[in-house]
Amino acid sequence: MRHLMSPLDFSVKELDSLLALADDIEKNPAKYAHACDGKILATCFYEPSTRTRLSFESAMLRLGGQVLGFSEAGSSSAAKGESVSDTIRVISCYADICAIRHPKEGAPLVGSQKSLIPVINAGDGGHQHPTQTLTDLLTIKQKKGRLDHLTIGLCGDLKFGRTVHSLIEALVRYEDVSFVLISPEELRVPSYIREEVLDANNIPYKEVERLEDAMADLDILYMTRIQKERFFNEEEYLRMKGFYILDPKKMELAKDDMIVMHPLPRVNEISVEVDTDDRANYFEQAQYGVYVRMALILTLLEVQV
Ligand code: CP
Repeated sequence: MRHLMSPLDFSVKELDSLLALADDIEKNPAKYAHACDGKILATCFYEPSTRTRLSFESAMLRLGGQVLGFSEAGSSSAAKGESVSDTIRVISCYADICAIRHPKEGAPLVGSQKSLIPVINAGDGGHQHPTQTLTDLLTIKQKKGRLDHLTIGLCGDLKFGRTVHSLIEALVRYEDVSFVLISPEELRVPSYIREEVLDANNIPYKEVERLEDAMADLDILYMTRIQKERFFNEEEYLRMKGFYILDPKKMELAKDDMIVMHPLPRVNEISVEVDTDDRANYFEQAQYGVYVRMALILTLLEVQV
């Protein structure tokens, strides 16, 4: 039995197979419509979510399976003090696979340790969000045709943005990838990512504060929201909130084939006027999240189609 806690739990070869499966699912949905007949997915969300929870549920329903779960800790027995470990152990009596999101880093890992079924980390605090990374990799593959030879700009809250941490870890395994890290000083990528991931793998990167200084070099611009829920201080959040706003004027500085991605939700960091720019890909990115989660469910349940 296999869990997914980090994008590194899959080798590059396994990731290639997973992305190829997601591509086939997109092209031939009918072929997979009964692949999970009789199977149940549990979604245990201790933190708010729209995309991750609903795309997991959509994925299982599109595979012919069924779903159960809770969307807030307060409606589960966590409100009575039950541990994550006990909750997931019990859920594994009711379902065949489980996706868990939790505000505490490492909680899905703890939940997986006594589970009888595959457990997927659907986001743990400011740490990792591996299924968003699978979504991002599929989006890049489909839109750019490759995962190597790319310059990726990551912009916004690089300190608390777990999607950024997972994406960097996944992309450093591909050839000739470089990063431009665009953030205010206070929200720089954590030092463990700089030292243990970027420096340790000799990955070229630079850190800049102004989005305008990076735009012209980028193949991909990955915008992120300032993570209000991770700030200890409301005043500090309000100071950071409007730091980056991608608008049509800034888009004029970008290459014609640059793509704009965002894990969503956005608050105000991408102006709605950018939505009609052909280079804006964030809503398609959300759609790819369904195909890749279908592929992940099939892979972890070892269902052959
Ligand atoms: N991208 C993402 O994780 O969105 P949700 O918080 O809505 O699940």
